[in-house]
Amino acid sequence: MKEDLLGLRGLSREKLENILDTAKTMKIIVEQANKKTPHLQGKTVVTLFYENSTRTRMSFELASKYMGASAANITASGSSVQKGETLIDTAETINAMGTDILIMRHSMSGAPRVIAPLINASVINAGDGMNEHPTQALLDMLTMYEHIGSFENFNGLRVAIVGDVYHSRVVRSNIYGLKTMGASVAVAGPSTLMPLHIEDMGVEVYTDVDEAVKGADVVMGLRIQLERQASGLFPSVREYHKYFGIDERRLKLAKPNALLMHPGPVNRGVELSSAVIDGAQSVINEQVTSGVAVRMAVMYLLSRGGF
Ligand code: CP
Repeated sequence: MKEDLLGLRGLSREKLENILDTAKTMKIIVEQANKKTPHLQGKTVVTLFYENSTRTRMSFELASKYMGASAANITASGSSVQKGETLIDTAETINAMGTDILIMRHSMSGAPRVIAPLINASVINAGDGMNEHPTQALLDMLTMYEHIGSFENFNGLRVAIVGDVYHSRVVRSNIYGLKTMGASVAVAGPSTLMPLHIEDMGVEVYTDVDEAVKGADVVMGLRIQLERQASGLFPSVREYHKYFGIDERRLKLAKPNALLMHPGPVNRGVELSSAVIDGAQSVINEQVTSGVAVRMAVMYLLSRGGF
């Protein structure tokens, strides 16, 4: 029986800890000169991306190569999707070529959940619409874990997530994962970019960013997703930065040495000022390295039957 990674909703603390501990070990491999391991030798990994990506796609590709898998990449623009082939037919075609792990990104929430039961390959959700982006949240949690030192220290950890909460699949996966680990999550942003009933997910909700950030251990900016929104949800990027951007003054409201995070890509000067992106508290590049390690861990565990 295969396992998939479609989201962090409902994933147990035990499984999260297993993934994070495996990823911590994988990070040692990522940071050494010789990154080659046989963990996925003989396996075939395919990435199928219907949306653009730099970090997620490249880190899955590098992770596959480091672990000795045969890896192939398909984008919607360069495939038979352009000739009208459906998502299901495309996935079944990839499966029929002997694929062991299919990593997919799609603009439709729930697309990986439709595909997973139809194919033998384990499916990893690399971001589906406004639903979830589980490996992003896992890499965010790995970065936090490495700084706080133990799983126990997630209990009561205060994480403030600021920005376009409405369109963000990153925030949803982070809320599910962080709440399971015992952290306390506050979300903040313009009321026009705040989903109705978000408090039902067990988070504190703020429109005043200063209040959300006050005393936080982690401050995470979210990208303004201009591609997913009709105009008019906020007045201008300059005003957005003034009221909702994280700058040095706002970051000082968090705990001293609070971590500054962002899933990327960052709109510099909008969600975060350049001073904080390049400042001492920024762990944005560490997140990118954690991304390769988390994807190695997830693929390795799935290739052995699950988490
Ligand atoms: N964070 C993230 O998903 O980045 P990409 O869109 O570059 O993959």
